[in-house]
Amino acid sequence: MTVIHEHFDLTVPPLDRSPTQAEIQAGIRESQAVICTLNERFDGDMLAAAPSLRVIANYAVGYNNIDVDAAKARGVIVTNTPDVLTNATADITWALILAVARRVVEGDQLVRQNQWTGWSPTQMLGVDLSGKTLGIIGMGRIGLAVARRAAGFEMTVLYWTRSGRPLQPANPAWQRVSFEELLRRSDFLSPHIPLTPDTHHLLNDAALRLMKPTAFLINAARGPVVDEAALVQALQEHRLAGAGLDVYEKEPELHPGLRELSQVVLLPHLGSATIETRIRMGMMCVENVLAVLEGKPVPNRVA
Ligand code: GLV
Ligand code: GLV
Repeated sequence: MTVIHEHFDLTVPPLDRSPTQAEIQAGIRESQAVICTLNERFDGDMLAAAPSLRVIANYAVGYNNIDVDAAKARGVIVTNTPDVLTNATADITWALILAVARRVVEGDQLVRQNQWTGWSPTQMLGVDLSGKTLGIIGMGRIGLAVARRAAGFEMTVLYWTRSGRPLQPANPAWQRVSFEELLRRSDFLSPHIPLTPDTHHLLNDAALRLMKPTAFLINAARGPVVDEAALVQALQEHRLAGAGLDVYEKEPELHPGLRELSQVVLLPHLGSATIETRIRMGMMCVENVLAVLEGKPVPNRVA
């Protein structure tokens, strides 16, 4: 906040909730720069309400909340916050993998609800990670960071990317496979791709039906990459062992039935939610805004 006040007049004080579209439109009428979160939709109408706008700095790496073509058409630059949240998001992915494999949340609830009667050889058995196969969809910054962490758990890493481009950096321990083989072989499957029209419902009913009934689906990318209705049905019918989700199709709503499934761990979109990361994301937004307004090269321009 101090940094912002050094450089700008803030027209509307930030709220600790998402502003409504109308509040935003009223607030940005004279703005040259906007810092927004993934809750705010910047479509053609919103852009039309801000004729002086020169930059939208998205406080996230994924920018599916912004109509990039409409921004381009108006000469508005769009920036995001890559890199600084890579490790935090990879960590939350692993938190979900461990939580579903070892039933961490169910165990906590048992103890907390005073229903634990003591150690028993068959109580709350989970599955090993070592020797299992982790399947990663998309090997961008976050996918790579998730893959690197798999070495410590002695897991096999398979991956599929849409572009098929060679990995930077390449790792001989990781094997590129087809999308179908990835679905068939993964014990834990985790997408790390942006949400675009091409990736919407990439993990649909047909895809989920190729997965093993012992497999777990993890999602810390964007909710609509997974067909949530198809996922709930697959879990209810035990065609999948479980799921660890940080994101949903219609946040903060959940598809009916999801909440009732004990083999599912549900987080409230915490991927980048560490103090260090959120501070860096904020500073990055300010740097991008300043660069645009001062006519300098823009560090994290996506459009
Ligand atoms: C968070 O979800 C992000 O895209 O940064
Ligand atoms: C995000 O930073 C990604 O490229 O995965």
